[in-house]
Amino acid sequence: MKLIHDILLDEQTIASKVKELAIQISKDYANKELLLVCILKGAFTFTADLMRLLTVPTTVEFIQASSYGTSTTSSGNVVIKQGVATDLRGQHVLLVDTVIDSGKTLASVMQKVSRCGPTSLATVALLDKKSRRTEDIQITYRGFEIPDIFVVGYGLDIGEQYRNLPYIAALNPADQL
Ligand code: IMP
Ligand code: MG
Repeated sequence: MKLIHDILLDEQTIASKVKELAIQISKDYANKELLLVCILKGAFTFTADLMRLLTVPTTVEFIQASSYGTSTTSSGNVVIKQGVATDLRGQHVLLVDTVIDSGKTLASVMQKVSRCGPTSLATVALLDKKSRRTEDIQITYRGFEIPDIFVVGYGLDIGEQYRNLPYIAALNPADQL
């Protein structure tokens, strides 16, 4: 495995932003129960860190969406490989993703989840590549706005590699598949 990249966000920078998001979310959902829906696979690390800092009663479910394959641009064809395994009616749902690019993944997951009748539906994303957006979607809680570069680490992959990096790195074009 080649490790040719520059660190964009180090562990400490990520941790303080996750803490900031958790404080805001805990405040907004005070006296409520929260259901986090983690969008696999990229959001598993962020979800795990975020949920441990939430002070409201929290449960977690997983949904698997895929559109990228091994390339660095979205195919635009979002496939829900695994749906949520619980009844969402009456629940306060917060969708968790690590990076929003075109917004197609989040738009398609939101459409699917909202059909299940949750009491409320909000979204949290650690990274927002706003300049790439093609879909009209609302990110309720946003960590960092980042430029149009492909990033890996902290759960994010290219061809399933680099998810284990504890920081977020910009991939060197020479390293792209
Ligand atoms: P979108 O559907 O174009 O918004 O892309 C969102 C999904 O693509 C995320 O859930 C990620 O899995 C993946 N993705 C988008 N940008 C990146 C990136 O820079 N690195 C790794 N994965 C990314
Ligand atoms: Mg991926």
